[in-house]
Amino acid sequence: MILVTGGAGYIGSHTCVELLERNYEIVVVDNFSNSKPEALEQIRKITGKDFKFYEADLCDAEATEKIFAENKIDAVIHFAGYKAVGESVQKPLMYYRNNLLSTIVLCETMKKYGCTKMLFSSSATVYGNPATVPIREDFPLSTTNPYGTTKLMIEQILQDVVVANPEWSVVLLRYFNPIGAHKSGLIGENPNGIPNNLVPYVARVACGKYEAVHVFGNDYPTPDGTGVRDYIHVVDLALGHVKAMEKAMTCTGVNVYNLGTGNGYSVLDIIKAYEKACGHEIPYVIDPRRPGDIPTCYADPEKSFKELGWKATMGIEEMCADSWKFTVNNM
Ligand SMILES: NC(=O)c1ccc[n+]([C@@H]2O[C@H](COP(=O)([O-])OP(=O)(O)OC[C@H]3O[C@@H](n4cnc5c(N)ncnc54)[C@H](O)[C@@H]3O)[C@@H](O)[C@H]2O)c1
Repeated sequence: MILVTGGAGYIGSHTCVELLERNYEIVVVDNFSNSKPEALEQIRKITGKDFKFYEADLCDAEATEKIFAENKIDAVIHFAGYKAVGESVQKPLMYYRNNLLSTIVLCETMKKYGCTKMLFSSSATVYGNPATVPIREDFPLSTTNPYGTTKLMIEQILQDVVVANPEWSVVLLRYFNPIGAHKSGLIGENPNGIPNNLVPYVARVACGKYEAVHVFGNDYPTPDGTGVRDYIHVVDLALGHVKAMEKAMTCTGVNVYNLGTGNGYSVLDIIKAYEKACGHEIPYVIDPRRPGDIPTCYADPEKSFKELGWKATMGIEEMCADSWKFTVNNM
C-alpha cells in the first residue's frame, strides 16, 4: 500500500491515476489547502478504481498516526506542501512550518510503523542560478527564496534520516516545470487564486478571464530575451514516479533524479504553442524582470534514463493542447 500525501493536488492526482492504472493500492491524504475534493472523484472516474482518503493535516501527528495505524503503508510519495515562490517570500514562517513540520511528522510516523521507503517532491529550484545548463544532479545547490530553502532543507533532513537509518530508501525527485493535464480533461492545474505559474495564467488569458499574459523580462541572455525553462508534461512526470517507486522498492540509501525533458523553451515559445492549441491570439505585455528569476533552466535527464529507465516523451504542443482541453472543460 502506497500513501500519497497531497494526492488531491496537481501532480499528486495525476500520479494517483498512473499508480491505480498499474494496480498499485493507494491511500491518499490531503487537507485541501490548495486543492478540492472533486479531484478525488475525477481520479475514481478516470481509473474506475476506488481508494481510501483521509482529510488531514500532516502537521497533526495524531491524525497522521491514524493513517498508519489503520493501513499497512509500505511506501510514501510525499507531494504535500506549499509551493508558491512569491507567497513564500511574504510568509516565510508559514512555509517553513508547513513544509518542514509535515515532513518531520511524516518521517517520525513512518519510523514508528517501520515504513522505510519515500519519494520526495523536490524541485529544480534547489540548483539556484546554475553556472551552466543542462543541469546535472551533482551540480552545487543553493536557493533564492524561502520555498526553495524548504526543499533544500527537507532534502538535507531526509539525507540525515537515511544516515541514521541505513535500511531506509529515499528518492529525491527534482521536478523541472510541470504543465499540461490528463488526456481525459478531468484533472489538471486549477490553482485557487491568481496562478503563480505561467501556463495556468496563459490558460486564463486564453479563455478570457484575464486580459493579457505578463512576461517578466525580455532582456535575458536567451534566444528571444524571455526566460527559458524545461516544461514537462505532468503525465510524463507522474510516470517518473512509477519508475522511481520501482527503484525505491529495490534499494536503500538516497537517490537523486532530475525529472525534466532536457529541452528549454522560452515564455514566448509557450505563448505561441498555446495560441496553436486554443486557435486564437493570446495578448501579452512585457513587464520588468521578477527578482529571483533566472534566465535559463533545463535538465540533463540522462541519469533518470540510465537508472530509472524513464524518459519524457511529450512535447510542448501536446502539453498546451492538454492544458487547453482541461481549461475548456472547467471554464
Ligand atoms: N508544480 C510545480 O511546478 C512543482 C515544481 C517542483 C516541485 N513541486 C512540488 O511538488 C509537490 C506537488 O506540487 P503540486 O504542483 O501538485 O502542488 P499542489 O498544491 O497542487 O499539491 C499539493 C497538495 O498538498 C496539500 N497539502 C499542503 N500542505 C498539506 C498538509 N500540511 N497536510 C496535508 N495536505 C497538504 C494541498 O492541499 C495540495 O492538494 C509540492 O511539494 C511542490 O512543492 C511542484
